[in-house]
Amino acid sequence: MGNSVFQGKSTRRTSAKFIGLRKVAMLRGKEIENFRHDPVMVREVMSVFGLKPGDTVVDATLGLAGHSKIFAEAIKPGGTLLGIDWDADILEEAKSRLSESVGVTKHFVHSDYRQIARCIRELGLVPNGILMDLGLNSAQIDDPTRGIAFSTEGPLDMRMDRSRGEPASALLNRLSPHEIEKLLFDNADERWAKAIGKKIVELRKEAPLRTTTDLVNAVLAAVPLGARDKRIHPATRTFQAIRIAVNNELEGIDEALVDAANCLADKGTLIVLSYHSGEDRQAKHAFKELAATKEFEDLYRKPRQPESDEISRNPRSRSAKLRAIRRVLT
Ligand SMILES: C[S@@+](CC[C@H](N)C(=O)[O-])C[C@H]1O[C@@H](n2cnc3c(N)ncnc32)[C@H](O)[C@@H]1O
Repeated sequence: MGNSVFQGKSTRRTSAKFIGLRKVAMLRGKEIENFRHDPVMVREVMSVFGLKPGDTVVDATLGLAGHSKIFAEAIKPGGTLLGIDWDADILEEAKSRLSESVGVTKHFVHSDYRQIARCIRELGLVPNGILMDLGLNSAQIDDPTRGIAFSTEGPLDMRMDRSRGEPASALLNRLSPHEIEKLLFDNADERWAKAIGKKIVELRKEAPLRTTTDLVNAVLAAVPLGARDKRIHPATRTFQAIRIAVNNELEGIDEALVDAANCLADKGTLIVLSYHSGEDRQAKHAFKELAATKEFEDLYRKPRQPESDEISRNPRSRSAKLRAIRRVLT
């Protein structure tokens, strides 16, 4: 896994130059070290958690440890940190970024957060805080070997955990036009879902889709010039919808949140940061269900969003929505 060099070339006549793509080939492991990911809504997360020395925190979406580095400072000495991520390369990098955080017991687990209750139970932890910062980090988006971004050419893979599942190319070379249309519409409200589904199936008869360029070209061929929104690239929603499908990203978030909340210590807090309406909807329903038991207090009726200074510093935070629930046993 990892360390693979992408050397594929688009087989289609429409060249990367035509759609303005950057062609990048790189050794993935080396590049991750240089990636920066600004943790989102840190002020709000820290004020809701109210962590103190000795506390236990679970970062269920460890990423590049942006939040966890700050948690480690707050819970030392004597605190415990569990970091979970389903991306093995990211987990390794996070481990190294946290190596200087001392005075804290650290556990790292390569897993899907939908297994969070098992991970916590096996380590015998009773967390004071659990964070689920959903989605991807910048390193994953910008890594051309993953094929997540339409702006760089790479293999059409999109899997977060490359040790299992089906790459995007296999999915798109297999589904019917109607199934592709449904996927694009359900996961990203793509207006041109039908035309894009038809075009993908038409083009793959010529040659199977292999690269991000192949998919961008299918979208550009399907969406009429006059109908394009100047603010976002026509392939934005298609790429988002397919990535969500490849990784099953929207399935079972609500159950994972309920499982996570039920692991909390008395007065412990679960925070979820979401970036997609389908994720926030599940968080809202899960928290409503939990609050109805009277064992939990939903801290915000409406989700909190980043302040304008954060959005101007870190534009990728603009769609973030924060919800929080606290366990109250006594
Ligand atoms: C937005 S990033 C987290 C960034 C992190 N808070 C930071 O500040 O560096 C989300 C991370 O969650 C991971 N992730 C997404 N879905 C996951 C899942 N179902 N199970 C485990 N990890 C997941 C991704 O691989 C990614 O590294």
